[in-house]
Amino acid sequence: MTSTLGIDLGSSIRSAAIRELDPLAADKLCFDMRRQNEDADVPALVSALRSLVPTLDDVAGYSPEECVAAMRDLGMFLGSIKKHGPEPVPFVPEVTPVLLELGRRTDMVPRDTVHHYTTWNPTGGRQRMYCGDIQEAYLQESVRMVFPHLREGLELAGILSDMDVDDPKFGVLTDELTGHVETMVSSIDMVVANVSPVFFARGLRAYFEEITVDGRVLLGPAAAQVPLWLIDQAVWASDRSEPGYQEFLRDSVPYSLPRWRELYEHWTAVPSVVSRLVAAYGDDPEETERRVPALRASSEALARLLRVIVVFRGRHLGIARKAYDADLRLYPVGSGGASVDLLRRITDLTRATARLTGRRSAGAAAASTEDSGARASGCAHASAGASGCAHASAGAAADAAAGAERAERRSA
Ligand code: HEM
Repeated sequence: MTSTLGIDLGSSIRSAAIRELDPLAADKLCFDMRRQNEDADVPALVSALRSLVPTLDDVAGYSPEECVAAMRDLGMFLGSIKKHGPEPVPFVPEVTPVLLELGRRTDMVPRDTVHHYTTWNPTGGRQRMYCGDIQEAYLQESVRMVFPHLREGLELAGILSDMDVDDPKFGVLTDELTGHVETMVSSIDMVVANVSPVFFARGLRAYFEEITVDGRVLLGPAAAQVPLWLIDQAVWASDRSEPGYQEFLRDSVPYSLPRWRELYEHWTAVPSVVSRLVAAYGDDPEETERRVPALRASSEALARLLRVIVVFRGRHLGIARKAYDADLRLYPVGSGGASVDLLRRITDLTRATARLTGRRSAGAAAASTEDSGARASGCAHASAGASGCAHASAGAAADAAAGAERAERRSA
């Protein structure tokens, strides 16, 4: 049996190859799916899915790339059926062993992910789309355009995580990482300009609902799986986060590529870059900077990186607030199971960390005092200040409810 261990299915060459593949001969059925979705024609969707499910013998003959393409196309039908109400798998029970095998062969969850829906999805006439609206195409493109940059960015974060913060190359590499993260800002700007909150809230959101496969509840292929949070984990979140964000990360990581899951495990066990920088500055930042002038460039570069992430998160929060406005939304929380209030708190935490990092280079002993004082108070994310603290947040109750729901699903 072919194993994908050691194969990077997310590389640009493999992704391009996967986009070309149609192992289930699903091109036409995937196109017809758009109309069936418009008509909410569940019997037609179920019948199409049934006709596509390969045998396990077929799957045994697939390459890993074909396994990915097969998962992509089955996933489009699973999400479509769920959009109209019913759990899809009980209609086509023979799909379960196939999903499990495709997941095993590709070392991924046994359902489609945001990678299948965007990077591994063909463009042009063969593009798999739930509804075919141009706004859906913009959302797919917004994710497709950031993945190659986040791939590079995560490898750079890996180097930074191992590098001394006073290494003269530290600032240069951090600026390179910032250049990659800037694509997130272009991406969200494109979405804000071209996708209406109404279209997302009332149209597309429902296709990303969770489904149950072999007793396991699995989230849909939504943009929340884009691993900006993994860059956070290396840079600051491994030891300066808050419980709600940590839980969101733990729930999101299974949907990412094997390499990124490894990075998460590693970064969770080591001090974050920001914490190492704070430690390097010690209690007397001015004196430290005189002794180790390279720290200033490192700290300024980190502050620039964090400010770019804040810009993305601020604009993203704006559209998320509109799409999840109580008068518009059909669902109280995002398809990743998190609330808009958690997004606000993550934004506040990132902003506070950017300020803290920037102030190091300004030689602000006050920042050091504020930081150590807050830490002494026992708050898990003390550097966020009051505005970002989960303990003070009015939305904490909503997140506790969402968290309880997630825990329940995990144990299902
Ligand atoms: C109509 C557009 C969008 C809306 C309404 C929206 C909404 C949300 C919501 C509610 C969450 C919370 C997690 C969850 O889903 O449960 C979330 C998370 C997230 N979304 Fe979006 N989103 C949109 C577009 C995008 C785009 C285009 C990207 C990136 C290309 C993106 C990247 C993220 C990321 C990375 C997270 C995790 C939290 C973070 O790192 O800040 N989103 N989104």
